[in-house]
Amino acid sequence: MNNFNLHNPTKVLFGKGQIENISKEIPADAKILLLYGGGSIKKNGIYEQVTEALESHKVIEFGGIPANPEYSVLMEALGIIKSENITFLLAVGGGSVIDGTKFLAAAALFEGDSPWDILTQNIRTEVGMPFGAVLTLPATGSEMNSGAVITRASTKEKYAMGGPGLFPLFSVLDPTVIKSIPQRQLANGLADAFVHVLEQYITYSVGADLQDRFAESVLQTIIEVAPKILKDPSDYKAASNFMWSCTMALNGLISQGVPSDWSIHMIGHELTALFGIDHARTLAIITENHYLHNLDDKKEKLAQYATRVWNVTEGSIEERAKAGIQKTTEYFHSLGIDTKLSDYTDDYEGTAEIIATRFTERGWLKMGERGTLTPEDAASIMKMSY
Ligand code: NZQ
Ligand code: ZN
Repeated sequence: MNNFNLHNPTKVLFGKGQIENISKEIPADAKILLLYGGGSIKKNGIYEQVTEALESHKVIEFGGIPANPEYSVLMEALGIIKSENITFLLAVGGGSVIDGTKFLAAAALFEGDSPWDILTQNIRTEVGMPFGAVLTLPATGSEMNSGAVITRASTKEKYAMGGPGLFPLFSVLDPTVIKSIPQRQLANGLADAFVHVLEQYITYSVGADLQDRFAESVLQTIIEVAPKILKDPSDYKAASNFMWSCTMALNGLISQGVPSDWSIHMIGHELTALFGIDHARTLAIITENHYLHNLDDKKEKLAQYATRVWNVTEGSIEERAKAGIQKTTEYFHSLGIDTKLSDYTDDYEGTAEIIATRFTERGWLKMGERGTLTPEDAASIMKMSY
């Protein structure tokens, strides 16, 4: 096992009725900016619960953060934070609203020239404006990690950012919020969280037996819960397990002391930036071919995954590894998610070259857990995924 330092300061308030407790987590004299998305919270009762809980606080609202949080919209919110002397941010939404709030937490205290530099120059945020979250969509794990991904539509770019100052102070995980989520977004959450685990697990073994079993248990739980939650999102038992699995998939626990990959996400983010494809679906497009392209490096872990998660017991290491990859694609299909770029756009020719050029220009020359995945490899994986 590799060395690690683990510190996750986010307080989790899990379960039914926990939204009413947020006022205890926010300083009484705070001036709060309540941030939300396209308005789902105003239709499903979450907005009322939040505003009721904050009755005795000073609150200003900013709605309209779109899926794949958009830089120009967030810059409007930043203007309000400054002109209104906001001291606390509260995200009420899915990964996009929480990520947008993290960007604002960083930008509010940023002393450089332009907040855009935080993204393009990969500036880590050591101290951000304090913020909390009320999660409305299990998927990204953003509610208990310190990363964010921000989009700029005008240049078709999407950049990751983060730093120890960007953990939410608290996050409410109330599984009853799931009942209003549309099927498409439920499927996205089930796919995104699954790939989060894979990116931290399908690498090479460093003898971290417990981390492997953490990863496998999250995968198994997601597989078990997927048909139940798609059939009935108001099933509280399924909703609780779905929500907690998504958080555990990317709150930093399963990645301690083990190598991570993240290439599927790096290529996938470009597909969202270029075509607007939902984040989770971009991952489903890339996963199979990333693993086939890197089979030699990853086959031991893939075979272990196939055996322990999918009960594939027959065959050589390579045969079991390939069976594991096939099972993963079937899992995406079982969620109703297509796995080829051409299922989403007719305009796919040239995508591989664009991605390779972008990665080269950004100096992303050595990706993957061994630092051996080049922009040319990314282009090959992309072409296999047309
Ligand atoms: O905007 P509203 O009206 O709220 O509707 C949203 C949105 O249209 C809707 N929704 C959310 N909760 C709902 C609901 N509808 C009904 N009932 C509810 N309870 O769902 C739609 C999608 O929401 P969004 O927040 O965009 O989805 P998700 O949580 O999948 O977030 C995706 C974003 O997170 C980033 C992605 O790149 C993408 O930008 N990621 C963030 C990560 C992180 N911070 O750690 C890691 C991930 O890998 C990912 O990259
Ligand atoms: Zn993801």
